[in-house]
Parts: sequence; structure tokens; C-alpha cells
Amino acid sequence: SDIDKGTYPHYMLKEMDEQPAVVRRIMQQYENEAGDLTIDPTILQAIKEADRLYIIAAGTSYHAGLIGKQYFEKMAQIPVEVHISSEFGYNMPLLSKKPLFVFISQSGETADSRQVLVKVKEMGHKALTITNVPGSTLSREADYTLLLHAGPEIAVASTKAYVAQVAVLAITAAAVADQLTFDLKKELGIAANAIQSIIDRKEEFATVVEKFLATTRNAFFIGRGMDYFVSMEAALKLKEISYIQAEGFAGGELKHGTIALIEDGTPVIALATQKEVALNLRGNVKEVAARGAHTCIIAMEGMDEAGDTLTIPHVHPLLAPLAAVVPVQLISYYAALYRGCDVDKPRNLAKSVTVE
Ligand code: G6P
Repeated sequence: SDIDKGTYPHYMLKEMDEQPAVVRRIMQQYENEAGDLTIDPTILQAIKEADRLYIIAAGTSYHAGLIGKQYFEKMAQIPVEVHISSEFGYNMPLLSKKPLFVFISQSGETADSRQVLVKVKEMGHKALTITNVPGSTLSREADYTLLLHAGPEIAVASTKAYVAQVAVLAITAAAVADQLTFDLKKELGIAANAIQSIIDRKEEFATVVEKFLATTRNAFFIGRGMDYFVSMEAALKLKEISYIQAEGFAGGELKHGTIALIEDGTPVIALATQKEVALNLRGNVKEVAARGAHTCIIAMEGMDEAGDTLTIPHVHPLLAPLAAVVPVQLISYYAALYRGCDVDKPRNLAKSVTVE
């Protein structure tokens, strides 16, 4: 590759470190002359004209899509469905009257997503692609493109592109919203600083790995609300590079079956960034601890308690995924290192999957 990893041992570490800068670059790229964050007026209009958005994506980009749905629905009151591209192509749901398709893809080349784009274009629908790669196939074949501006992502495990996707989705949803109850620009700046402060303490995460993931076969991530979606991404990250069997679960759903898997020493990592469900989540942590789980709580300032494993700085609840994903990326990274896995080139995986 022509991108140098410099003094970094791995691209993944370099790319995680770039995340605060990526958020700040996105803010610059999406700032208009008045200093407000916004998007191209043509795309704004296309979103406003739609009666429903259909987000189509795979892997990490799908997980960013789940967060994006929250943004469009909570900030702009636009209904959104999020679909895995390989399923959508062959099992299309009943569509609304005026759908807009939103493809999220770091590479812009994922075959499963391309196949859906071809189908929906044939049906006469409009599509927007959110991608890191200008001129990629998904960008060229869609009607509109929003770029991630994350810079080339080389490590197979996506980190900075996920953060960029979440940030661009937040800006897009805010741009179509009639009014916002918070200052997105200010809050994104706070989120970038929060990411930086977590990155600056990265050694702490190696300790978490030694304590919780050194020899385990499996692990659970749990969260509620926004934290549930981040838990799914956390599990994917851990599986991809450390080969630990992991699952991201909604805190309250664990007891409906999956809790049967909890044994003495099973690691359960809980994310607590959402105030209105923080107590319920802590209840879920107690449930698994009572069955022998080895529990690790990552809590946001303001809802942290004595005995929590890690505290992350306070950010706006909707932007919490930007901060909450960083500890779990770092945990996955150190788990892979600790267990002697090839961080940047995990077995069986490709950076972009261009076959169905
Ligand atoms: C591959 C990669 C994943 C990625 C997914 C979607 O499976 O290994 O890390 O999330 O493709 O890629 P895309 O480029 O469409 O975001």
C-alpha cells in the first residue's frame, strides 16, 4: 500500500488515533459560509421529499446505519428502516410510496450493496451513497454522494470509517431537521475531544484485556438504546481480529434465553452512556454477575459509579456512540495483540467483499 503506517506497528492503531482529526475534518468539510454544518441542498431536498429512508449496508457500515436511523427519527422525524444488503436484495420488504435509498459503505465496492443499488435503480428509485471513496462504484451509480473524508482506511477492521459514518449521519439528519434542541457543532467538537482523551489513555485498555479477555473463548457486550448498537459493533470488532466468539446484546433481552450461556468467568462488558436506561442496565449487569459473569462497566461521566472499570468523558447522548466505540475498538485491538493475532490482516476476511 502507498499509505505509510509510519512508526505505528499497525494500521488499525494509526487509524484509531486519527479519529479525533477525522471528526474535526468532517466538521470543516460540511461547514457552510455562515459556519453552520449542512449538506448539499440537492441532497437535502431529496431526503425531505422522501417519506421513508431505507439504509442498506453490510458489516460495520450496517452498525453505523442503526445509529443513523436514530438520528433521522429523533432529530428530523423521518422514518427509517435499516437493512443488511445481502438480505434486502432477495427478500425485499414492502416499500413506502416515496422511498430514498441510503447506501453506507466505506469502500463503495461491497457487492451485496451494489446488487441492491442496481435493483432499486431498475425500480426507478433514487439513491444516496455515503462512502469514504470518491468515484467508487456505489458512488458513481447512485444519484447523490456524501463523502466520509476519513482518509484511506487500510486495516481490515473498520474504525475511523465507522466514526466518520456516524458523524456524517448526524450532520445529515441535523441538516434536514426543522429545529434541533442542541448545538450539533459544539457537541461534535466535544465528542472529538472525548475521543482524544480516550485515545490518550489507551494503555488502560491493555489492562482491561489482561483482566477480562486473556484466555476466554467467548464474551458479551451489552447496552441499551444507543449502547445496544455500539455493543453489536464491539462484538464484531472483537470477533474480527481476536477470534473471540462475541455477541452484542440488548441489556434487557439477555435474560430471555442467552443468559443460559453465562458461566463462571464469562466476560460481560457493559456500556452505560444513556442516562434514562443506566439503572436498568446496571440491573442487567447484576443479573449476569449473580450467575458468575466477570463484568466490566464502561460508563459515561455523570452516570458512573464507584467500581466501574472505565469512565469516558461526557458527550451528548445522541453522539455517545462516537465516544463509546473507541474503548471497545481499543479493547479489541489489545485482545488481538495479547492473543497473538494478525491485527491488520485477520484470517478469512477482506477489506471489501466484491463478490456476493
Ligand atoms: C467487509 C469488511 C468489513 C466491512 C464490510 C462492509 O466485510 O471486512 O469491515 O464493514 O465489508 O464494507 P463497506 O466497504 O461496504 O463498508
